[in-house]
Amino acid sequence: MQLFTQLETPAVQREAPPKRLPVCERYLSSALNGAASEPSLERVVSCFRDIEPFLEWRWRSSYDNSASDNFLMSHANGMIVGPGGVEDRKDVWLGVTLMAPHVRYPDHDHPPEETYLVMSEGEFRQADNDWFEPGIGGSFFNVPGIRHAMRSGSKPLLALWALRADGQSH
Ligand SMILES: [Fe+2]
Repeated sequence: MQLFTQLETPAVQREAPPKRLPVCERYLSSALNGAASEPSLERVVSCFRDIEPFLEWRWRSSYDNSASDNFLMSHANGMIVGPGGVEDRKDVWLGVTLMAPHVRYPDHDHPPEETYLVMSEGEFRQADNDWFEPGIGGSFFNVPGIRHAMRSGSKPLLALWALRADGQSH
C-alpha cells in the first residue's frame, strides 16, 4: 500500500505542545478499554496509548447544521501523522476522532480516499445511504469525494482514519 511506502520516509516532529480537550479526559480511557477488548485491536490500542500523550487534540474548525448541537464541545480530533501531527507532514494523514455519546459529526467530503478503522460502537454514513455500524474492529473505505459522517449512540465513538492527502480538512 502506497501509504506505508510514503511513511518509510519520516518527517519532523511537531513543535507545539500536546493538548487534550475535555471530551478526552471524560471518554478516552473508557473508549480505549472497550477497543482493547477486541483481540484484533490489542496491538493498535497499545501503540495508540503510547503515542496519545504526544497528540495535540483539536476541535474541527468548520461544521454546519448537519452536526448535532452538542458537536463542538463533544468531539476531538487528533493527528498522529499529518499537518500538525506528532509527525508533521502533508502527504499522509493518520488521525483519530473521539466523540461523546449522542453526537453527530458534520457531513464532510475530501478529494483523497480514506480508510477508517472503527474502535467502538457507533454508526457511519456515506452519501445518502443508510447509516451502518462496522462494529469494534471493523473498517470501511470512503471513495474520493464521497460525503460522509459518523454518529455515536449511547457509548463514545472512537475511530482511526487514514488518508493520502491533498490538504483538505478532515
Ligand atoms: Fe473524512
